[in-house]
Amino acid sequence: MPVTPEVLGPVWASDRMLLGDRARWAGATVSRTGDERSLLVAAERGDRLVLFGRGEPGGVVELLRDRVAALRSSAGLGVAGMRGAAGTPGLAGWMSVPRGAVVPEDVLRPLHLEPFSTWDWLLAEAPPGTVAGEDVVVPLDPIAEASAIADCLAEANPGTTADPTGPHEAAWVGVRDEDGGLLGVFGAQTRGGAEEGGFSWHLHGLGVRPALRGRGLGAALTAALSRAGFAAGAQWVSLGMYADNEVARRIYHRLGFATLAEFSSFGPAGSTRPPT
Ligand SMILES: CC(C)(COP(=O)(O)OP(=O)(O)OC[C@H]1O[C@@H](n2cnc3c(N)ncnc32)[C@H](O)[C@@H]1OP(=O)(O)O)[C@@H](O)C(=O)NCCC(=O)NCCS
Repeated sequence: MPVTPEVLGPVWASDRMLLGDRARWAGATVSRTGDERSLLVAAERGDRLVLFGRGEPGGVVELLRDRVAALRSSAGLGVAGMRGAAGTPGLAGWMSVPRGAVVPEDVLRPLHLEPFSTWDWLLAEAPPGTVAGEDVVVPLDPIAEASAIADCLAEANPGTTADPTGPHEAAWVGVRDEDGGLLGVFGAQTRGGAEEGGFSWHLHGLGVRPALRGRGLGAALTAALSRAGFAAGAQWVSLGMYADNEVARRIYHRLGFATLAEFSSFGPAGSTRPPT
């Protein structure tokens, strides 16, 4: 089912986060509590069942219980640990819920999920002011320079899932040394906007090589890329970050990003990074 304003209901239809992601939720099942304060999206992405809860944590847990019960009784959908009699291969799960939600063991166990991370979703509604030293930031060609970007990220942000050759990349920027090598990079994906035809930018893959940190390059990359997004017509600019990344959070908040939502995520045992 497409994620339309009707499916999101009166409270969540204008939620920036859900609107930005709605193309990625194609085919999802959306459930909401009667008081409209909590919402759960369940979607199959590739071979993965993805669960995403938004709003009041207790209500999300209620919706989760109902969804897991429905999945368990569904003959057609084989979730890992919930294989049908025919033994069809199951889906590997991934789940994010509002931080503070206490997900009971009897919900986590059948989904084969374990705590993975805590992360925050940040939003800027207007371009940032100019940052000193921002003139060193230059646009990159994400295809022609893909391996140079990957080389920089391998040292500067090895845990990122950002891929400059991905299907929805909008722009990459970087800072070069005198030989043209990349000292730091940052990229943006195009995501949904407030209405059909509108769009937002979602930033990912910020990394500055360790030896060059503390000189303002991270702030310069973030300011330049965010401003480029608004200049290109993005209705807002968003990004996700691990909750313990205080250095990054200070940069983003100084540039006008606000923390819109805080999550805990759960993945299969042994996961090293979230799905893209
Ligand atoms: C997060 C990251 C990109 C920041 O890059 P950076 O280039 O060090 O960022 P900045 O220099 O703009 O800011 C970092 C600090 O240096 C300070 N700083 C900037 N210029 C400075 C200067 N000339 N003199 C002294 N301090 C300076 C900033 O004020 C900031 O201080 P704060 O910690 O008090 O807020 C970098 O640490 C990194 O690559 N980390 C690993 C990957 C990562 O976490 N990416 C973000 C994912 S969300």
